[in-house]
Amino acid sequence: MRSIEVNDPLLGRLLAALGVTLTGAGLACGERHLDVDSVGSPSDESLTPSAESGDSDDENAEETDESEKFDLASDGDDDEKYDVGDGTDECELERLETEEEAPDECWWDIPEHKHLDYFCFAPPSGTDCHDEPHTDECIIEAYVGGLIQGGDAINCGPFVEDNGDCCYGVYGSWGIGRPFLVGGRARLARTQPDSNWSVPMRPSRTPQDPMVRRALADVWTRQGLSEHASVAAFSRFILQLLAVGAPAHFVEQAQVALRDEIEHARVSFGLASAYAERPLGPTRLDVSGGLDSAMLAPVVVAKSLATEGCIAETVSSQLLVAARDRCTDPQIKTILARIVEQEMNHVLLAWRALAWLLPRLQPDARAVVRGVFARAHDYVGLGPVTSIEAEASLLADHGYLSHAFRSEYSRHVLRQVVVPAARALLGGDRRERQLPPGMRPLGG
Ligand SMILES: [Fe+2]
Ligand SMILES: [Fe+2]
Repeated sequence: MRSIEVNDPLLGRLLAALGVTLTGAGLACGERHLDVDSVGSPSDESLTPSAESGDSDDENAEETDESEKFDLASDGDDDEKYDVGDGTDECELERLETEEEAPDECWWDIPEHKHLDYFCFAPPSGTDCHDEPHTDECIIEAYVGGLIQGGDAINCGPFVEDNGDCCYGVYGSWGIGRPFLVGGRARLARTQPDSNWSVPMRPSRTPQDPMVRRALADVWTRQGLSEHASVAAFSRFILQLLAVGAPAHFVEQAQVALRDEIEHARVSFGLASAYAERPLGPTRLDVSGGLDSAMLAPVVVAKSLATEGCIAETVSSQLLVAARDRCTDPQIKTILARIVEQEMNHVLLAWRALAWLLPRLQPDARAVVRGVFARAHDYVGLGPVTSIEAEASLLADHGYLSHAFRSEYSRHVLRQVVVPAARALLGGDRRERQLPPGMRPLGG
């Protein structure tokens, strides 16, 4: 059995789930206690990035990269790097919605599994759109894909609206906690005045500032839509597990996760309704095309597990941890703590299920999984983003952290948890996780 040094509690929990032996060298250096049965303690300081720790994180990452002599690329390409993002400063531009459809040329050459977002900015006084007054970085940063912010590239623009606004098409990813992806796009319901998907909630302290209440209603509505879509994602996942012949305990755990997501949706809409002081809930969800024979192929199941569970949900669970730790409202803190524990189980389920499936895949399918982890940053979602301006510290008191913080934190989680766990998983795949004698790989 392979042995690996552990310096992160969540990583330790994942590695234990993957059957990798833990050593305590990293613990002794950091004077941290690690109990493998209880690690993943969401408040552990080792998962808290700070201005002081930022540099050391980078140093640690470099050390790890130097000391780990294998990569995920099946062809042994030493240049292959894990993409944990480089981070960009937030731009101060005010994003404006437009009623106009994106021009036809905006839809050309959008990579598979990417989403186009079309939006506008007012040009600074004394300029017009032909002066190209907005930086590419800020235009890309303004992208919103479902619940995440920050795109990949500008696909078209600027186009000038009648009022002089400059409009751009930007494509990017839709990764969120556990998205329900159909045709590469995350399906979400819309919002309607309805209380059928909420439980009555009353935050311990209702903010006095109406902008804070509006922003929190917006955030929890978006969170509720995301959780609602996760119900569909786990419904499909259960069928995918059956299709690849997974053991019953995985199906059972997925069923529990599905129930958890229903609870998360109801709590989220309950909070949204409390802050908005009116009932809020989801419309019907379009699930058409959500499960076809292609989605039952083992390689697609493995890719879904890697992207949605091992990357997106691992990061989002730790973003919830950070939100919980900074939240001062007792009731919301309790709610977040419960959600964190449940999401951690979903994360462990994803890694365990992928560890079970990997040795059953054809070599080219395993290469697909390696490719997913090599582009891990593409599949990260940062959770709900609101454009309603309100005091950041008051929002944090109620469990909403800034986009800038979450962006930094997500890279920390990728670097400290996802990448090492992927290395352990795929290393184990190559070295130890051989298919039992007499079993043949799954096709597809
Ligand atoms: Fe959830
Ligand atoms: Fe989840």
